[in-house]
Amino acid sequence: MVDHDPDDVLELQRICKQYAGTDTPAVEAIDLKVRKGEFVTFLGPSGSGKTTTLNMIAGFITPSSGRILINGRDIADLPPHKRNLGMVFQNYALFPHMTVWDNVAFPLVERKVPKDVIRSKVAAALEMVNLTGFEKRRPRELSGGQQQRVALTRALVFDPPILLMDEPLGALDKKLRQRLQLEIKRVHRELGITFLFVTHDQEEAMALSDTVVVFDRGGIQQIGTPAELYRRPQSRFVAEFLGDSNLLDGALRRVDGRWVLEAKDGPVHLDGWTPPEGVTEGQHCLMFRPEDVLISDSADAVDDWKATVREVVYLGSEERVIVATQSGGTVTVRLSGDALRHRPEVGQIVALRFSARNAWLIRPDK
Ligand SMILES: Nc1ncnc2c1ncn2[C@@H]1O[C@H](COP(=O)(O)OP(=O)(O)OP(=O)(O)O)[C@@H](O)[C@H]1O
Ligand SMILES: [Mg+2]
Repeated sequence: MVDHDPDDVLELQRICKQYAGTDTPAVEAIDLKVRKGEFVTFLGPSGSGKTTTLNMIAGFITPSSGRILINGRDIADLPPHKRNLGMVFQNYALFPHMTVWDNVAFPLVERKVPKDVIRSKVAAALEMVNLTGFEKRRPRELSGGQQQRVALTRALVFDPPILLMDEPLGALDKKLRQRLQLEIKRVHRELGITFLFVTHDQEEAMALSDTVVVFDRGGIQQIGTPAELYRRPQSRFVAEFLGDSNLLDGALRRVDGRWVLEAKDGPVHLDGWTPPEGVTEGQHCLMFRPEDVLISDSADAVDDWKATVREVVYLGSEERVIVATQSGGTVTVRLSGDALRHRPEVGQIVALRFSARNAWLIRPDK
């Protein structure tokens, strides 16, 4: 109990899991603190340990070592139902023979809540997710999205301190997914409960979360707000996993008061760039996003950064242009707004100009 901050609802201390019969741990020494009311998302590729971690919190999997604290209390000896956590998984797992009403009322009946309280809580919960009028239906008489909303309601109706969700929208089509994302965000705002959400979809993670925890091979790569992860990734892995990125290796030098990256294609001038504190000359990896690059078709000046257009991908309100630089690297450029009026063509030689303001350095060994 020492050192417990009352605002921390969940704490993982050096949590590890090695499944029997495997030679590498599925989760290795994870440390994490979650604040009350925070929306935290575990994001990472398939097999990176997200579900294993969530299931250790839920109590379905016993950690090989490490401690899990909820409100400062070690919960190792509590079975799943005593942890009092709400849970929603990808496969709806509603009781098929029960009505919507009975499904949602179930956790309250189990907890022996008085009947009149159950009545008002279930009605209010169904109203919150716009399912009033569906009380008498059974799960098979509902669409996938409606079933997931019932599952969400059932997980929240008993006011758990934390709601755990493992890819709850994974089985739904994109449009419905986006609608339910908004709904989940609203419910989170209205209830102020701590949400722990798992996804491998980076757009979903960015859209929903206060904090994103990026998993890779059983460990945490980085924890931050969506903007921190997008603008200041600490590793190539994070830079490439969240959104499109351009990575340029080279030697960073300061020449006549200007920062320059000596890259394979020639010097890249970083005018207007403020280096992070402590940055020194030497080998670095420069990251910039597709929206930080401009294309112009007048590749005349000697020191222009020339490239050949390889692919133009039409995306409606924007276009993604992939160009090959002279040294064989590729750069992704995003065109939107006015820039769309000068649509480059495949095979065309163009000049790249990039705005260094948002450029970001990643340590070469990361
Ligand atoms: N019961 C098990 N026995 C042995 N190995 C397992 C078991 N469950 C998971 N693993 C392994 O542990 C690692 C992490 O799996 P986990 O399910 O946590 O990944 P995940 O990040 O949730 O992936 P996904 O995005 O595919 O759901 C994987 O290598 C997986 O093969
Ligand atoms: Mg999983």
